[in-house]
Amino acid sequence: MGYKITPYITEEELRARTKELAAQISEDYKGKEVLMVSILKGAVVFLTDLMRAVSDEVSVQIDFMVVSSYGAGTESSGKIKIAKDLSVDIAGKDVLIVEDILDSGKTLSKIVEILRGRGVNSLKIVSLLDKPARHTHEVPVEYTGFVIPDKFVVGYGLDYGEKHRNLPYVGVVEFTEES
Ligand code: IMP
Ligand code: MG
Repeated sequence: MGYKITPYITEEELRARTKELAAQISEDYKGKEVLMVSILKGAVVFLTDLMRAVSDEVSVQIDFMVVSSYGAGTESSGKIKIAKDLSVDIAGKDVLIVEDILDSGKTLSKIVEILRGRGVNSLKIVSLLDKPARHTHEVPVEYTGFVIPDKFVVGYGLDYGEKHRNLPYVGVVEFTEES
């Protein structure tokens, strides 16, 4: 089965919305330190744009986690494994999880459970995209970029079989009969 990618959220729209989210985060964390935890690999493009749009009145630190999610297909396995853990102790810290997309919520709910168990001072989530139609696990997301329909999307960090992460926009994958 082949597929084609149809642009869905433009670079300009991504930039504008990221600025709005960053302004809100700058306000909420003014004068504080925040540790932005990004879940590799999909959220890395969003993280780098988001952090640069946050005011310098916030002391921003970053760290990364790798957890297993979709593998090569489009369905979540439901099992989460930490392949790479954080490199810092997060006890007492204000942590902001930076995610690319909230789909079923399985991955994020598990990560929230793990990080809460480490005695953080606060834990919030910013997700660039949200697919409410797919939620099976409720996750409190404070900052959402775009609510999207139940479509598989790629670009701006998101992949399909590890491809298309480099697209500067978000596109919808449409599967076609021919290969
Ligand atoms: P969840 O555990 O079902 O919420 O899956 C979350 C992860 O699945 C995300 O962090 C993405 O890596 C991946 N994912 C979910 N939906 C999409 C999509 O539409 N395109 C690309 N990756 C996706
Ligand atoms: Mg992925």
